[in-house]
Formats: sequence, C-alpha cells, structure tokens
Amino acid sequence: MEKFIIQGNNKLKGEIKVNGAKNFALKILPAAFLSDQPLTVTNVPEIEDIKRLLEIIEDCGAKVERLSKGKYKITPPKRPKTDLSKDLVPQLRASILLVGPLLARYKKVDLPHPGGCIIGKRPIDQFIKAFESLGAKVRCTKTKYIFEAPQGLTGGEIIFSKISVTGTESAILAASLAKGTTTITNAACEPEVLALAEYLNTQGAKIKGAGTPTIEITGVKKLKAGKCKVIPDRIEAGSFILMAAATDSKVKVSNCNPDHLTVPLKIIQDMGVKLEVGKNYVEVLSAKNLKPDNIATHEYPGFPTDLQAPMAVLLTQAQGTSEVHETIFENRFMYVDMLNRMGADIKIDNPREITINGPVELKGKELESPDIRAGIALVIAALMAKGESEINNIYQIDRGYENIAQRLQKIGAKIKRV
Ligand code: EPZ
Repeated sequence: MEKFIIQGNNKLKGEIKVNGAKNFALKILPAAFLSDQPLTVTNVPEIEDIKRLLEIIEDCGAKVERLSKGKYKITPPKRPKTDLSKDLVPQLRASILLVGPLLARYKKVDLPHPGGCIIGKRPIDQFIKAFESLGAKVRCTKTKYIFEAPQGLTGGEIIFSKISVTGTESAILAASLAKGTTTITNAACEPEVLALAEYLNTQGAKIKGAGTPTIEITGVKKLKAGKCKVIPDRIEAGSFILMAAATDSKVKVSNCNPDHLTVPLKIIQDMGVKLEVGKNYVEVLSAKNLKPDNIATHEYPGFPTDLQAPMAVLLTQAQGTSEVHETIFENRFMYVDMLNRMGADIKIDNPREITINGPVELKGKELESPDIRAGIALVIAALMAKGESEINNIYQIDRGYENIAQRLQKIGAKIKRV
C-alpha cells in the first residue's frame, strides 16, 4: 500500500493554488441526469471520490469524456440503468446524490446501501422523508433501498428535522422536475447548495432562496444542460491555511473564495495568526504566541466540521487550554490518539468534546489516516513534528486532496509518496 514519508520541522514557503470543490463537483455531476443534453463541467478536482462517482455515472449508461485536466463532458443516455451498481455504490456515500435526478426523470431507483463513512453511521432518514414528501414510495430490503414514483414526483412540503447538506441538495435536484411547488424548511446553507441552485436556474429551473434555510422550487417539465465551473474548495483552502499557521510559515493560498471562510478566518486571526485576506486569496504571514480558543463546529456559516481536525492540530500550539465541540458527527476524533502518540496533550471528554493543552512539541511517528480530513490533519502534524513520520492508508487523503504530495513539495514540504 502507498504511504507518505514526511520530514517535519521545516517551514513552508510560496503559493499553493486551491482546486475545485469536491463537495460541489459530487453534486453537479449527478445533475447531468436531469437533462437529455450534455453537461460540461470544468475545474473538477481529479480525486478518488470523483473517479468513483464518474465510474457509477458511466455504469448507468452515460457517456463520460475527459476533455482535459479537470474538464468532463457527461452525455446522458436515452434510458439510464437505475439499478445502481452494488460493487461501486458502497465505495462512495455521495452516490446517493444520483437518486434525486434519476427518480425525478425515470421514476424508479434501486440504491444498494450507500457506504457509510468512518466518521459516523450516516443514516439517510432525511433523504427518505424528503423523497416521500415529493410523492415517492421508499422500500428498504436487506441489500438496497428502492425509490419509486410511477406517476412522477409532485411538489410538496419538505421539512428537514436535521440539517443535511446532501439531503438538501438531493431535494433540490428532485424537486426541480417535480409537478408543482416544493418548499424546503431547515435547508442547509452551504455555498455548494447555492452554487448548485444557481447552475440549475441557468438551465431553466425555478429555485428561490438557496443558501438560506427556506427554499422554494417551482417544478418545470424539462431542464437544459450546459457548462458549469466548479467553485473553489473552501475546505481545501482552510486546510492549507491551517497547515501554514501550524508550521508558522508564510504561504499564499490562492484561487479560493475567502467569503466562504469568514468564521474560520476570524477564529484563526483571534488566536493571533497574522493573515492578509485578498479577493481570491489568503496569505498566512505568521503564527506566533497563539492564544487558545473554544471551538464548536456548526452548519454553514459556522466553523465547518471538515476543518475540525486540522484546527485541533493548530490548537496543540496555542499557549493554554482549548476545547473543541464536534456538534455534527458522532465519531470525528479518531486522529486524537495518534496526535497524543506524537506528544500532544488532548483529552477526549466524551464522543463530542475534547480538551487540548498547549503548546507541545510533536515528534514524528508512524500514523494511519482514518478519513479524509483526519488524514490531512495528520499531514499537518507530521510537517510540524520533529523527525520523520510515516502516514499509511493515504487513499483516504487522495479521496479529497488532488496530488497532495507534489503540491506540498512545491511549497517546501519534505513529503514523498512511496
Ligand atoms: C456533507 O456530508 C459533506 N460531504 C461532508 O464532507 C460534511 O462534513 C457534511 O456535509 C457536513 O458539512 C459532501 O458534501 C459530499 P449531512 P453529508 O447530511 O451531506 C446526519 C468531507 O470530508 N444525517 O449534512 O453527508 C448525519 O449523520 C465530507 O468532505 C442524518 O441523521 O452530511 C450527520 O450527523 C465528510 N440523517 C449530520 O446529519 C440523514 O438522512 C450532518 O450530515 C442525513 C444526515
């Protein structure tokens, strides 16, 4: 198995460009099934999760052409296969995003149980209730979910009892072709939700209020398809900013949208990290004498759960005691034991809260990446630590960060993939 070997305790320097957002590309590609016209998407990150999704889209009968790096053209078939692959679906939880479009246009979808993620059991009750509010019938067998709407979907009232990002996006994808009007209450407000609605509206959809907790959709008979550019990845940008701060390096993180990181940037600056924030970049200038803080993850625009692990690594360098409260997922502290083995002083108070004492000196160790974001947190820790670290299971990191070793080498990181 491939692994990263990292020599720590050296400064980073230079500029790193942020890629297109994984958590937008995973939603816009399934939207290809909403129309019979070809969809061209640019600025697609070339990462494992996208490769898995494109394999499933191809398996459904669509033509997938890679026109150049990050540029894909999806031509939907007359009649796609809607009994999704039981080999491919469990590899990617986000495959559930195919249900909305396929159900809306082809009235039946068989979805093998979507892969959970190690960060939590990841139920899909919110999706099921949303599709039922649009008139679908949902059956669950031992091996799969069967979604059916023989008369097509009809607009209805969707109330999310729990905020769900992909649940909201699935509801938008399905309701855009339902007969009649749909209202969504307690919708997720992430920038990726807004970007999806904005693209669909350019192709004939009638979606109002995306990006706010209340969305209203007037279903239309047909949608066109055209070109879409993936928005910058705010989580990749945040990861690199935290990486530069944790190594007290001067790094410019460019091709990003700082407006999507308002809260994390405020928290990082209040800790004492010096930043220069431009229109489409954030430059980390220095990170000395850091103050501790108490962080609670929260749906957008709050502090994102996907930056919780990288932030915890920075907090090990703060002078004092910090607390981190993970309010979104029930199992997102798997990296803590490994940080403690490196010399951190972190206590897991309960599955949702940890206490971090700093500053500490970290030492290189042999590590294992449990999930995407814990994986990049371990890379950050290894870059700061004294000595050499080895990170195994780097498929998890490749799921969300394209070509990460080469890109970090360009800013001075001593990291190699073996
Ligand atoms: C999206 O996951 C992101 N993934 C996640 O990023 C991100 O951490 C998460 O939103 C929260 O911001 C993609 O967009 C592909 P949720 P999603 O549905 O939509 C519970 C990464 O590293 N829930 O908003 O799957 C769920 O268990 C990934 O890039 C239900 O109870 O997350 C969780 O506790 C990790 N029932 C909470 O809601 C449901 O039907 C939020 O989940 C759905 C979700």
